[in-house]
Amino acid sequence: MDTARDFPFSHRPAASARHRAAAVAPGRDGELAALREAYQRVAGRGGVELLLLSGGAGSGKSALAHSLRQPVQRAHGWFGAGRSERGGLPYACLGQACGELVQRVLSESKPGIAAWKVGLRAALGGNAQLMVMLVPALERLLGRPEAPPPLAPLAAQQRLRAAFRDLLGAFARPGQPLVLFLDDLQWADPASLALLRDLLGAPGPAALLLLGAYRPQPAAAGAALARLTAAALRSGVALTQIDLAAPEAAARAGRRWRDGAGGRPGHAPPGGAPERLPAPVAAGAAALGDSGLAHAAAGPAARGGPCSSWSSSSTVAPG
Ligand SMILES: Nc1ncnc2c1ncn2[C@@H]1O[C@H](COP(=O)(O)OP(=O)(O)OP(=O)(O)O)[C@@H](O)[C@H]1O
Ligand SMILES: [Mg+2]
Repeated sequence: MDTARDFPFSHRPAASARHRAAAVAPGRDGELAALREAYQRVAGRGGVELLLLSGGAGSGKSALAHSLRQPVQRAHGWFGAGRSERGGLPYACLGQACGELVQRVLSESKPGIAAWKVGLRAALGGNAQLMVMLVPALERLLGRPEAPPPLAPLAAQQRLRAAFRDLLGAFARPGQPLVLFLDDLQWADPASLALLRDLLGAPGPAALLLLGAYRPQPAAAGAALARLTAAALRSGVALTQIDLAAPEAAARAGRRWRDGAGGRPGHAPPGGAPERLPAPVAAGAAALGDSGLAHAAAGPAARGGPCSSWSSSSTVAPG
């Protein structure tokens, strides 16, 4: 693979990279590098990764995440962003994120749009109407498809999840990964979180980086996010957590955590026990019995930037 072509943002002259990072998130070079690395892993190996940004209001989560949009698009990947609002409508953040993808499709050439129409119709089949409801802009590609037949609630839920997977799968293709950025996850509605949990289950889309940002408060949101991280760990999705509010000492240390069963052997990291992990990650691990993280191994050294990054992977996570 021609990495210089596929990942141009990691191979550009330093001055240019510095300028681009400074334009969006000054002082966040280390964190931006972690985001780029996650994208490159998904681009190179395929699969699904979950990367969570946490920090208080104004710590720069959104700015950092959005700074990935341009480099991803330059590398011919897909970037869609949506945000949750307190008391927002179910699925609104997902619809918004997918809407950005559809708008980009609509900006393509006529033959390109025509190819997408065919591809999306084939991918969604009889469930196209469900996705038009989720992403109204899709109507410009799919028209007004017939509604699928009514089903019992559980079966209808499964059908919706399958349709959402199929929609994302149409974008998240090998060599052209999809970055789905969901902001303000502390306010995410339960329906969206359930779809995301399903998405993290195996088999996932071919090349997806699920990027989330959340404030550690309200604490109640932590339980829902813990279920998300547990779903990721359970299905072997690599999980990276970046805490933008971390003290500099911890930031310098930079830690990677691995499931003891599948990870490299090692010793406990300097920061100590799993309870030092950001809450949703630790709670997600606890929900799985905490078997892996109790034996977590210290991984590669820090990246050198002011970045605090914890990564915990289950046994089948890419190595
Ligand atoms: N590294 C940085 N240096 C200077 N200013 C920054 C940096 N990152 C973000 N900002 C600015 O700080 C403000 C808050 O950033 P941002 O919206 O990204 O924070 P946030 O963590 O997403 O907050 P919230 O939880 O409220 O959504 C913005 O005006 C942004 O432009
Ligand atoms: Mg924000």
